[in-house]
Order: sequence, then structure tokens, then C-alpha cells
Amino acid sequence: MTMSPTTKPPAESLTLTIDGKDVSCRSGQTILDVARENDIDIPTLCQLDGLTTWGGCRLCLVEIAGSSKLFASCATQCTEGMNITTQSDRLLNYRRMILEMLFSERNHICAVCVSNGHCELQSMAQKLGVTHIHLPYRYPKLTVDSSQDRFRLDHNRCILCSRCVRVCGEIEGAHTKDLKGRGIKTFVINDLDQPWADAKSCTTCGKCVHVCPVGALTERGTAVSEMAKRRAFLPYLTSMREH
Ligand code: FES
Repeated sequence: MTMSPTTKPPAESLTLTIDGKDVSCRSGQTILDVARENDIDIPTLCQLDGLTTWGGCRLCLVEIAGSSKLFASCATQCTEGMNITTQSDRLLNYRRMILEMLFSERNHICAVCVSNGHCELQSMAQKLGVTHIHLPYRYPKLTVDSSQDRFRLDHNRCILCSRCVRVCGEIEGAHTKDLKGRGIKTFVINDLDQPWADAKSCTTCGKCVHVCPVGALTERGTAVSEMAKRRAFLPYLTSMREH
């Protein structure tokens, strides 16, 4: 049988080890995919099923035998015979350190946040036992964009996971949201860094609000702890697009 240049080769079956357990998978799958298929929990923040991989938060780091480097499991494809460790003291220390850096970088004051109790950063810290921040807080003076009638963008709470940027471009197709700047001076923007209300490309669909893991994108009119996110639409829209 001849294959046209555009035909994908059939997926190969691979065997590997995760946390001492022998598992099998198809070539092209990431370590995170295979771990989840086998009920092995790896913490994630920027990853969301239905959106492309970003690999930015680094919480999903794992160890691979034979390498001293750590690998982002959401962005690393499995290969034959890999021996992967997803839980170790070293990984736990790095994951805690990442969370501490996120908490200290902006102003995450859970007690007065509309997402208190519904926040992935908060629940991840509880899960990984982050009870104190050893780094100095930066307390930057950041703005809140309340120009839009329905939604609010609070840069103080943003962890730059880029889920909002990806859902806006990949699912809604509006491409309103983007990131500007570098490092600690990176910010989510609307259109060409305009107030949200002036961003003509925004369809006000609210998808960005509901994929945001924290209290950075919220609905206006919500009080402390009231902003629960609804994500049921994402797998549905993704499978509709695939068909
Ligand atoms: Fe893999 Fe964020 S979940 S880097």
C-alpha cells in the first residue's frame, strides 16, 4: 500500500513505565495523557483539555530515568521504554516553589477574591501543602479593567496561563486576547491593548472567563467566593469542531 505525502503513519504501540507501573500507549501521546489514562495524577495549571499545549506553568514536571533534566509532561511525547517518575521529593519541592513564585508575583488575596473557594491556584496550593510563602511578596500596583459591561479583567490575580488567549483564538475564533511584554511585565491584553469595552473583535461569549483558573477573569456583579467557573462547553465544542 502506498501512502500519500499527507497520510499520517499509523500510531505505533509503545510500552513504558510510570511510577513503577508498566503501561502502554500510542506514539504521539504525551506523558500527561498516558498518566491520566492510567489514573496517575500529575498537577497542572496551564493545561486544559480542548486547548493546545502551552507548557508555561511547569507544574506538570516529571523525571525521566537517564536524564538529570525535568520534563513538562504535557509537552513531552512518550517514547518506547521510558521510565517516568511523577512523584518525588524533588518534584514536590519544585512544584511548591512554582506555586510560591506565582503567589508572590502578583496580589493573590484569597479572602477578598471573587474566586475564593473556586480557584485552581488556591486548591493546588492546598493539595501540595503550600501554607507559607518564603519569597518576598512583590505587591505590584496593577490595574483592573472594568470597562466591559459583563466581564472584568483583574491583572492582580492573573497567573499568565494563557488559557484565555487560547480559547479566544482556538475555540471562539475571535483572537481578541493576547499577551504583551516579557517576564513579570507580561500582561493579558484585549485587541491592541485597549480597554476591553473598546475591543471590537470581542464577541462577549465569556469563554475566556470560564476557562480562567483563578479570579483574573470574572463576571461583573459577583461578590467574594461567588465566581464559580463553568467549563462543560469546552470538550463539547472541541469534539464538534473535530467532526
Ligand atoms: Fe504542563 Fe503547565 S500543565 S506546563
